[in-house]
Amino acid sequence: MKTLVVYYSNSGSNKYLAEKIARALKCDSEAIKPRLNFFPFLILFSLTKTSVGIKRLSRNVAEFDRIIVCCPIWMGQIISPLRDFIGRYHTSINKLCLASCCGSSDAAKDVKFGYAGVFRKVKDMLGDKCVLCEAFPVGLVLAEDKKGDGNAMMKARLSDDNFTGEIQKRLDDFIQRIDKVD
Ligand SMILES: Cc1cc2nc3c(=O)[nH]c(=O)nc-3n(C[C@H](O)[C@H](O)[C@H](O)COP(=O)(O)O)c2cc1C
Repeated sequence: MKTLVVYYSNSGSNKYLAEKIARALKCDSEAIKPRLNFFPFLILFSLTKTSVGIKRLSRNVAEFDRIIVCCPIWMGQIISPLRDFIGRYHTSINKLCLASCCGSSDAAKDVKFGYAGVFRKVKDMLGDKCVLCEAFPVGLVLAEDKKGDGNAMMKARLSDDNFTGEIQKRLDDFIQRIDKVD
């Protein structure tokens, strides 16, 4: 099973997650690079479903049996680098799994800015090619008394110091499930 992990990350957590997944699966990872990597514009592009596109990946997507994408969620939207990645490589993608380190908790996944709506939209774009979506809520790395604290959640970043316990277990489960969905 030839796998490539691709990611877009603004503040580092999804890059960290992508590298963890790539290490676990012993495969390469590569960043999705927007042509205009200016955060406020990317937010705007995500909200308006417009953009100036992404740079070509150095790998040939069609050569991989599965692509794993790691990226955040902004404003309850598919972020523009992910939308552009799917748009550009739709026909070359064989199977895609989405792993998002996002702000939404599992309990809030169905609210306006929750991850469930984004996962549904990605499945709508890719149909059967989208075989697995998993959230890695960044709040999982917060101390118990900070878990409901929106400010602490926005500041939280995955790192070697906090990637343990529940989030590590979720990654282990994800790696196991990924091998069963082929
Ligand atoms: C402007 C902005 C909007 C966000 N909106 C959402 C959202 O709608 N839903 C969500 O689950 N997380 C949201 N988040 C949280 C990010 O998805 C989360 O912080 C993620 O871990 C950042 O990933 P990164 O470090 O790879 O950039 C938002 C973050 C920012 C900065």
